[in-house]
Amino acid sequence: MLEVKNISTGYDKKQVLFDISLSVGHNEIVLLTGGNGSGKSTILKCIYGLLPIWNKEGKIIFDGRDITKLATYEMVKAGIVYIPQKNNYFESLTVHENFIVSGSIYSNDVIKQREQEVYKLTDLYKYRNRTPFNLSGGERQLLALGNALMHKPRFILFDEPFSGLDQAKTKIMVDELLQLKQQQISMLVVEHKKIFNTFADKEFKLDLGKLI
Ligand SMILES: Nc1ncnc2c1ncn2[C@@H]1O[C@H](COP(=O)(O)OP(=O)(O)OP(=O)(O)O)[C@@H](O)[C@H]1O
Ligand SMILES: [Mg+2]
Repeated sequence: MLEVKNISTGYDKKQVLFDISLSVGHNEIVLLTGGNGSGKSTILKCIYGLLPIWNKEGKIIFDGRDITKLATYEMVKAGIVYIPQKNNYFESLTVHENFIVSGSIYSNDVIKQREQEVYKLTDLYKYRNRTPFNLSGGERQLLALGNALMHKPRFILFDEPFSGLDQAKTKIMVDELLQLKQQQISMLVVEHKKIFNTFADKEFKLDLGKLI
């Protein structure tokens, strides 16, 4: 479904990724692990077109289509959404308002329908009038996921969904991701903790910008 082919990139003159190739099959959850600063977030940014690929051979293919130079709105249209590690929800808006704003490129009817679907998937209906300030870390991660789900994606690039979550909350998030998989949503998930590997179909490990 998603193929990353031979990408190299970095920031200014500093090279961070070296010839990275990986793939995520249809209906797969793939885990990308590695220590702090190994380049995990950089891979997701690069796939989503937020960071230019340095080399001519570097390509991103989605469903057989070359999406290497696609603009962000075209990525969303193609069915891919990216959930960054930080700043992945609107701080001053309630849960309900977050979903409305996230869905604002769609018609009112679509927004209404999707919001209900997202409540079913994330169990956030009971918190719909709260702002993120009044949610726990786990609930905020679900809110970030909910914002992404407003686009009805087929593919999610998720940067550290388990960040700051205890074991019980991690289990809830794992179950959440497995539930999305059942809905035919594929995922590339970044995580540095190893313990949660069991739920993934495949794992890639990164060390200093190289896959090992
Ligand atoms: N905007 C930037 N400008 C310059 N260097 C950057 C920038 N963003 C990241 N880097 C550098 O790129 C390298 C990889 O960073 P990246 O954020 O991809 O790591 P990571 O594997 O996601 O780490 P973490 O587990 O801490 O989130 C690091 O050395 C980092 O300092
Ligand atoms: Mg990171």
